[in-house]
Amino acid sequence: MAASVLGFGTTAPAADIKEVQMLHWWTSGGEAAALNVLKQDLGKEGYVWKDVPVAGGGGAGAMTTLKAMVAAGNPPTASQILGYFALDYAEAGKLGDITALATKEGWAKVIPTALQKFTTTNGKWDTVPVNIHSVNWIWLNKAVMEKIGGTEPKTFDDFVALLDKAKAAGVVPLALGGQPWQEATMFDSVIASTGGIEFYKKAIIDLDETALKSDTMKKSFDNLAKLRSYTDPNYAGRDWNLATAMVIRGDALVQVMGDWAKGEFRAANKEAGKDFICYRFPGTDGAVIYNTDMFAFFNVPADRKAAQTALADAAMSKSFQSAFNVIKGSVPARMDVPDTDFDMCGKKGIADVKSANASGKFVGSLAQNYAQPPAVAAAYDDVVTKFFHGEIKTSDVAVTELIKAINNAK
Ligand code: BGC
Repeated sequence: MAASVLGFGTTAPAADIKEVQMLHWWTSGGEAAALNVLKQDLGKEGYVWKDVPVAGGGGAGAMTTLKAMVAAGNPPTASQILGYFALDYAEAGKLGDITALATKEGWAKVIPTALQKFTTTNGKWDTVPVNIHSVNWIWLNKAVMEKIGGTEPKTFDDFVALLDKAKAAGVVPLALGGQPWQEATMFDSVIASTGGIEFYKKAIIDLDETALKSDTMKKSFDNLAKLRSYTDPNYAGRDWNLATAMVIRGDALVQVMGDWAKGEFRAANKEAGKDFICYRFPGTDGAVIYNTDMFAFFNVPADRKAAQTALADAAMSKSFQSAFNVIKGSVPARMDVPDTDFDMCGKKGIADVKSANASGKFVGSLAQNYAQPPAVAAAYDDVVTKFFHGEIKTSDVAVTELIKAINNAK
């Protein structure tokens, strides 16, 4: 009808497609519950949700699927993405432009500057940050903690003493999922604890070779090796949420994990302070080693752009950033969202982000692709996991291999 009104040779613009196709790796109970908030918000606006889930914590599998979709010229409306992966797509000219909405909504004023490095390219917004996670947390079963008479560990040595107590009481001390990304994520915290956050910055953010081959780096590997002795024998290959479940059930004392673990406690109806306890990884209080889940918007046909804008708008609303992050375990990426609805761990998370940001202790996680490009992060994962599983036998060899692998990847 419209075409004939416009006359020969002219076609009316196609109607907007009311569909959101979303690629993500949020497949655990807590993650799915959090994502549901978004599905519902967009459903209210008449959008059909087309889920593209690719299981695998840390997102390696999802990134492989995304790469194939983009290469085939068939990118999703949006994809969950981490830091440097987004920068690579932006550099390759694959991302769209949501600057008009960003300007209208004043996002630049409410998102930490550190994150804007990843959400914008040459001043143009192409992704939105839906949360701030941090990796330097530990999650403890409160009843087990009471049973063994444990108290908050303030240093790495305290932590080892606490794990010893659990071991002596016949409880699995450390619930671990032995997958490369999980071990590397834990190592981020171990480095910051062993050498302090300034050391983390030198070694991991600046890739300063003197720091990377220092005794402090060797000690970090030695500390990582210590943790290995507190796992159960079946840790290899275990998914992160199954490790969380061990703590939830009281089969293990503690898990070292990003605050997506809290989403699992919540999904199991467990309450912070009553059923479980959160502490910063011992020796890292005051610092936040972050990773932010972003939605990247790719170049899509004109009739799919309105869906991107709707998704970006929904994901950046204050109410969504509160509701979603309460369930997800993370904290809002917007600094103007009140902490009212958050539990004690969430309130601490929000306060920590603000103070770490102000004191220069807000640093990206290498394992989670917020410190270096993907190839360097993958090299790190590889060396850490080889060391953890005994293929690299000493911390001396580990630092040499790490420097070699990083230099090859650069
Ligand atoms: C993501 C989290 C997710 C976790 C486990 C991390 O890389 O940032 O949102 O919950 O992986 O799947």
